[in-house]
Amino acid sequence: MSKPKILVQLDTDPQPSVFDSVVAVDAGVEHLLRHGGVTSEQVRDLTYGAMFTRGGDDLCGTAIFVGGSNVAAGEALLEAVQQAFFGPMRVSVMLDSNGANTTAAAAVLCAAKHGTLKGAEATVLAATGPVGSRVVRLLALEGARVKVGSRSQKRAAAVCEAVVKRVPEAQLTPCETGSAAQTASALKQAQIVIAAGAPGVELASAEARTGAKNLAVAIDLSAVPPVGLAGIEITDRAVERDGVACYGAIGVGGTKMKIHKAAIRQLFTAHDLMLDAEEIYRIGGQLDA
Ligand SMILES: NC(=O)c1ccc[n+]([C@@H]2O[C@H](COP(=O)([O-])OP(=O)(O)OC[C@H]3O[C@@H](n4cnc5c(N)ncnc54)[C@H](OP(=O)(O)O)[C@@H]3O)[C@@H](O)[C@H]2O)c1
Repeated sequence: MSKPKILVQLDTDPQPSVFDSVVAVDAGVEHLLRHGGVTSEQVRDLTYGAMFTRGGDDLCGTAIFVGGSNVAAGEALLEAVQQAFFGPMRVSVMLDSNGANTTAAAAVLCAAKHGTLKGAEATVLAATGPVGSRVVRLLALEGARVKVGSRSQKRAAAVCEAVVKRVPEAQLTPCETGSAAQTASALKQAQIVIAAGAPGVELASAEARTGAKNLAVAIDLSAVPPVGLAGIEITDRAVERDGVACYGAIGVGGTKMKIHKAAIRQLFTAHDLMLDAEEIYRIGGQLDA
C-alpha cells in the first residue's frame, strides 16, 4: 500500500501561506507540514526530516514546497534545500514564492494561445519584478524577441544579463519605459505585451496600447486598479478589445490555479524533481495540449 502524500511547506513569511496550503490539499496532498518564518540556516534539518524517513519507492510520497511573499528569500531556501540533498537521497521540490512561477507560466501560456512565440516580438513592461523577469525568461526560452521594460535602463539591462545566463540564445533588448513616449515606442512593433507592474500602477495608456498596430495579445497581471494596461478589465480572458485578445489578472488566474495544482500533483510522481519557472511552465504546457 502506498504511503500518504506529505507536503512539507517551507514558507519565508511568519505565517505560512493559507492560499498555498489550500491549493496543496485540493491537489491531493494528504498531510501538510506547515513551517513559517523559515530561514536558510533551518532548511538542512527540515530537509533531512523529509528525505531520511521514507526509503525506496516511498520517497516520492514526500515533497517540499517553498513559498512566501519574498521571492529572493524563497530562492535562497530552494538553494539550501538542494544543498541538503546528496546522491539519491532527495525528494521533489517546487518553488512558487508569491506565485511568481505559476503566474509567469500562466501568462506566457495565455500568450501562446494567440500565435507562435518563436520569433514573435514581445514587450514585457515592468519586467524587473519577480513575475516580469520570469515572463522574460519563459518568452526567451520559447524564442520570442523580447523588449525588457523598466523605468530604469540599468535595471532592464540587469534583467537581460540574468536571463542570458539561463537562456544563452535569448534575444533581449533592454528598454527604458519611464515616460509615455518611451512606453509607446517599446510597444510599437509588439505582437505580445505582458504588463507585470506593481499593483495599482498604470504602465501604458489605452492610446499606447491601441497605437501598437501589430498587437495580437495583451496581458495585464495587476489586479489592483488602475491596472497596468489601461482599458483591460481584470476579469478579461481572451476578450477582444480593439482587435486584440486581452487578459486581466483574474483571467490569467484560472490558468495559474490549474498549473499550480498540476505541479503539486507532479511532485509525487518522482523523488527527484526540481520545479522552478521552466519546469512549471512545461507542466502548464502539457495541460493546455
Ligand atoms: N494573478 C496572480 O495570481 C498574481 C500572482 C503574483 C503576482 N501577481 C501580480 O503580478 C504583478 C507583478 O508582480 P511582482 O511581484 O513581480 O511585482 P513587483 O515586484 O511589486 O513590481 C514589479 C515592477 O513594477 C515596477 N514598478 C513598481 N512601482 C512602480 C511605479 N510606481 N510606477 C511604475 N512602475 C513601477 C518596478 O519596475 P521598475 O522599477 O524596473 O520600473 C517593479 O520591479 C503584480 O501586480 C502582482 O500583484 C498576480
